[in-house]
Amino acid sequence: MKLSGALVFALVAVQAAVLLSAVPSAQASELQVGYYSKKCKGLENVVKWHVVKALKANRRTGAALVRLLFHDCFVRGCDGSVLLDKSYDNPNPEKNAPVNIGLAAFDLLEEIKAAVEDRCPGVVSCSDILIFAARDAASALSNGHVHFDVPAGRLDGFVSKAEEAQAELPDSTDDVEKLIANFARKNFTVEELVILSGAHSIGQGHCSSFTGRLSEPADQITPAYRELLKYKCSSGSNPPVVNNVRDEDYNTVGRFMPGFVSRLRKVPDFLDNSYYHNNLAKIVTFHSDWTLLTQKEALGHVHEYADNGTLWDEDFSDSLVKLSKLPMPAGSKGEIRKKCSISNHRLY
Ligand code: HEM
Repeated sequence: MKLSGALVFALVAVQAAVLLSAVPSAQASELQVGYYSKKCKGLENVVKWHVVKALKANRRTGAALVRLLFHDCFVRGCDGSVLLDKSYDNPNPEKNAPVNIGLAAFDLLEEIKAAVEDRCPGVVSCSDILIFAARDAASALSNGHVHFDVPAGRLDGFVSKAEEAQAELPDSTDDVEKLIANFARKNFTVEELVILSGAHSIGQGHCSSFTGRLSEPADQITPAYRELLKYKCSSGSNPPVVNNVRDEDYNTVGRFMPGFVSRLRKVPDFLDNSYYHNNLAKIVTFHSDWTLLTQKEALGHVHEYADNGTLWDEDFSDSLVKLSKLPMPAGSKGEIRKKCSISNHRLY
């Protein structure tokens, strides 16, 4: 195709404008608590209001936000790359990666972004909104036990590739050594791997994420729980099942694990250290959860957090802050997106 001189000029001009509006991403040390206190007064209250409203309608949305923080920050740092939809220029974004199965709460983040844009146009990044929202969700789901200040000032990135998400994020079939190596690549310790895995006290997973568990031997998964999972998975085509058996419905637990009914929770999706009790009892869904029991240091920390819920609340808060500081690759540029699902300029 032959482009006219005027069209070429226009394209070059747009590209130059994009380059000028893109700025270098912040380093972790440059993020600041209270970054928006003058730039966008009341921002954190606006985010919280929307998160609390969404959780009142459906507590499960909170789990989706906490997982989004992890899946955004582990891939190219916390840059909102996981929020980008596929586009003409980028047909295969992170969202398409198999490892990102079940990600949700995108609409909520877009709703919050629209409200924030009304208040302070062009000032607040989607990547910061995601961290604030995940923090508020974690706090609400733990009755305030998980809490932390969010250092802010992130920019939204331009790059989002499914293959990168698939390579960077851990898989539910991974063994402990692979998980440890994966977390070490991002400078996270074995202890932090164990702490962060505690997030699986909330939310859900699709049956395809734990198919292998359904045929693991009795020393790896409690047989009654394995039968419960098989039963749940037979009820449809790859249905989601709650991560925490304490959130399971009364009748199903009564049928497969009658001794456990008294431990069911009245309020589901409560973010606490129950994951560690479940793990020691071999009633967790993912192989990547159970495998933590097979490595000495990791097992020690599973015991430590099973014994001390308050310590876990504190250490989980600190580990989320550490996750939220993962930077974009050196030399990356960013922008403040107008909408979280699309870059401002198509040419990027
Ligand atoms: C250690 C490695 C990890 C692996 C292999 C892993 C894997 C998974 C998988 C397979 C699912 C279910 C997806 C589906 O089938 O729909 C899931 C759900 C979840 N994960 Fe992880 N995860 C890991 C660590 C983490 C971390 C570090 C966090 C957050 C700090 C986290 C938070 C969650 C939450 C909250 C859910 C439920 C999401 C929802 O209900 O929408 N996970 N994880």
